[in-house]
Amino acid sequence: MTCVDDFRLKFGKKEIVPIIVGGMGVDISTAQLALETARLGGIGHISDAMVPDVSDKRFNTTFVKDKTKFYRLNISNSDKSSVKFDLGLLAEATKLHVAATMEAKRGEGLVFVNCMEKLTMNAPRETLQVRMASALDAGIDGITLSAGLHLGSFSLIEDHPRFRDAKLGIIVSSVRALQIFLRKNAKLNRLPDYVVVEGPLAGGHLGFGADWAQYDLATICAEIIQYLKNEQLDIPVVAAGGIFTGSDATSFLENGVAAVQVATRFTVAEECGLPYKVKQEYFKASETDIEVNNISPTGYPMRMLKSSPAIGSGIRPGCESYGYLLDGNGNCSYITSYNREVAAHPNSKNISVMDKTCLCTHMSNMNCWTCGHYTYRLKDTTHRLADGSYQVLSAEHIFNDYLYSTDQKIALPKQPV
Ligand SMILES: Cc1cc2nc3c(=O)[nH]c(=O)nc-3n(C[C@H](O)[C@H](O)[C@H](O)COP(=O)(O)O)c2cc1C
Repeated sequence: MTCVDDFRLKFGKKEIVPIIVGGMGVDISTAQLALETARLGGIGHISDAMVPDVSDKRFNTTFVKDKTKFYRLNISNSDKSSVKFDLGLLAEATKLHVAATMEAKRGEGLVFVNCMEKLTMNAPRETLQVRMASALDAGIDGITLSAGLHLGSFSLIEDHPRFRDAKLGIIVSSVRALQIFLRKNAKLNRLPDYVVVEGPLAGGHLGFGADWAQYDLATICAEIIQYLKNEQLDIPVVAAGGIFTGSDATSFLENGVAAVQVATRFTVAEECGLPYKVKQEYFKASETDIEVNNISPTGYPMRMLKSSPAIGSGIRPGCESYGYLLDGNGNCSYITSYNREVAAHPNSKNISVMDKTCLCTHMSNMNCWTCGHYTYRLKDTTHRLADGSYQVLSAEHIFNDYLYSTDQKIALPKQPV
């Protein structure tokens, strides 16, 4: 019976296991998870979201503390336009994270960085350019451009010596978005090396509006494959969002996609960056515990557990420490919502903000429990232990289950003795 291992993703002469573990910011897809995926022959992602914060936790650097100190006099000011990133320090943090990961890479697979373009960082072009160029400098195998696809991104690194050798991919959710991107980039004579088609069941931010439930990944993939064929463009298509079993993946591969990108199953891997307690929340979740809401200041809908501490939290905006969602004019919709609530409750110490969240602070503290639609099926992928907790899995076990499973079966891990 056909399984994922019968397929390979071809990049020129290189053949790769067609399983990509998607980027999960902020450091949910850790270097360990990406490295394990690459060791097993697939493609793993680290994420460059809030990379100075990630670097502080991984290497004991002090980027966040230093930035907070530098802008401390602005903390009570609601105008955040002066809070900027030092591009040299941003480059340093990116290089630390990427270089340490690439030095540790073993095996035939690849490690890419997920670059979330909606992190506008009060200087969208400049910061994105530095993030991409520094990742290339530090030897990353490829860059996947996600959330908020900036049509001019490729041109920001066209002078980089690795522009044509590193793999560059984009995430889209419609054939239209792909068409616009290709049209806009035609003059660069540099096609994406792969296109990830992310459907409405994915985790993180969604590339759909409130009508996300009306879309279907298989249909969008078929449209995109047909479009590329009509245009005689040979770009591998990667399907993402809701591919929960090896059989799901096989069926996409049989229908013409070159690889699948998965994430939710790996949120409960030992190598995943979520704290143990949060992994247990993911295991325990039922379908009704998950929602798609609009609290992300990016403006994109986001799927998360309803019990996420980020929902309804009214903490002071953390822009002096973080500030990743400040647009080019220093605004973030959470600041507006926060100021509105403060004005409405002048005597309250603790306010609640329901419509938006301070995503930077909550992602840093692992308090925004973003997840894929099928998170409620995670409990079926493992054992429930005597104390009522669920057994966390190894990334290798999950990877191999995708690779070899057939008939919608999910292999359970060996029970601890
Ligand atoms: C916890 C979590 C965090 C995510 N964060 C990001 C992110 O930062 N950037 C991104 O492009 N995609 C993100 N995603 C989407 C995944 O990379 C992936 O494309 C998608 O979730 C695959 O669908 P699946 O989770 O149903 O397997 C995230 C997904 C999850 C589950």
